[in-house]
Amino acid sequence: MPPSAIPEPGVRPSDFRFHCLDCGHVADSASPDYRCPRCGDLLEISYPEWNKSGIRSRASGISADDLKSRWKERRLSSTPVDLSGVWRFRELLPALNAAHVVTLREGNTPLYEMPQCARIAGVPRLYAKHQGMNPTGSFKDTGMTVAASFAHHAGYRWIACASTGNTSASMAAYAARGGMRSLVLVPEGKISWSKLSQALDYGAVTCQLRTDFDGCLRLFRIEGQKTLAIELMEQMDWQPPDHIIVPGGNLGNSSAIGKALLEMRDLGLISRLPKLSVIQTEGANALVRTLREAGGKRLISVNAETRATAIRIGNPASWKKAVRVLEATGGTCEQVSEVEMAQAKAEIGAEGVGCEPASAVTFAGLKKLVKQGFVKAGETVVLILTGNLLKDPDFTMEFHRGDLFAGTPDESEGTALSRLRHPPIVLDATLDAVLRTLEQADKSAPGC
Ligand code: F0G
Repeated sequence: MPPSAIPEPGVRPSDFRFHCLDCGHVADSASPDYRCPRCGDLLEISYPEWNKSGIRSRASGISADDLKSRWKERRLSSTPVDLSGVWRFRELLPALNAAHVVTLREGNTPLYEMPQCARIAGVPRLYAKHQGMNPTGSFKDTGMTVAASFAHHAGYRWIACASTGNTSASMAAYAARGGMRSLVLVPEGKISWSKLSQALDYGAVTCQLRTDFDGCLRLFRIEGQKTLAIELMEQMDWQPPDHIIVPGGNLGNSSAIGKALLEMRDLGLISRLPKLSVIQTEGANALVRTLREAGGKRLISVNAETRATAIRIGNPASWKKAVRVLEATGGTCEQVSEVEMAQAKAEIGAEGVGCEPASAVTFAGLKKLVKQGFVKAGETVVLILTGNLLKDPDFTMEFHRGDLFAGTPDESEGTALSRLRHPPIVLDATLDAVLRTLEQADKSAPGC
């Protein structure tokens, strides 16, 4: 059967606008770079019908309860758009003919309970929404399916991005799936081999250089990435947690999650907003400084340096949106040291979950927010783990071998983490040697 010419349910172009959050300019259409024609800032897609006060807002003319049951029913379907954990929520996305949808069955990621980490942090209920379980191993896929689909719809032959690694891996995969070519610009020597190797395998033209520009389809990526929050609320039976904690780099993800939370509230899908907080490392703390030293009014860029290469960004593109989202939800921004991040990563790993270094800042940040009293006893917290453990094996190996902080100012603090290290043990190939090692390990096991 030829693909249907009727758009799938979604928001028709007549019902969404391109909105500049900075100068307030609103337009029906956007130029190919999706920047504001008046002030040059990044545009965002907005749905004016959803936040009209006085009337009950509806998405695509459907009530909140009907949306919830429609999304649930789709889980039994076997069509590609329904199997995608992004397009399943298409009533909250710009409409697109299904023939253009480029999907790798992204989304549908697990929400894990984290009892051990909850005890360590001192909170009763802690969950991790693991976006590293996406097809290319990071949260970028939920955004990329929407960006690549709209690029396909627009007839693009090439798509391009600058990236610290995960965006490029994801973009290369979705370009390949959609029959498009891809150009990837990555900072030389500062991204993990796993991420670079993904881009190569998916056929991208890959240039290693120093840059901080991002793909022009960012605005569609944000729309896709916001579905992580919709899926999370569905997994929590539409009972929002008290806190959601995300790592912050370019700050697209925090903006996307915040956008989804506000839209869901406007549509009556949730009745209250969780506080959304952003965590950075001390070495790449542009948002922390922007809020603390400039009251969120102007960006304070930094010369970023951190082993969490995914968030080694000194000049975050979406900082204004992130500031707005923190204000709107009552969240905060905190920074953690390299040692705190490494410890948190090992603790998440010890729970059988694991993540890449950038994701672990969420747990390190949570511990601080509990100590400061920002996260209160009895509150429910969700950490967004953005990338898979396998994304940065060098970091993990160096940590367990004890080399991660060697020769750095953190060396002595780093040695305090030795109880969390599990270096590989070289043995004679005898049963006796293996048994002796096992006995020793058993004595040192947690709880003994
Ligand atoms: N966590 C991981 C694993 C990331 O790859 C990124 C960003 C972030 C967190 C931060 O998210 O930028 O939306 O605030 N990675 C981008 C990239 C910059 O190019 O892959 P953000």
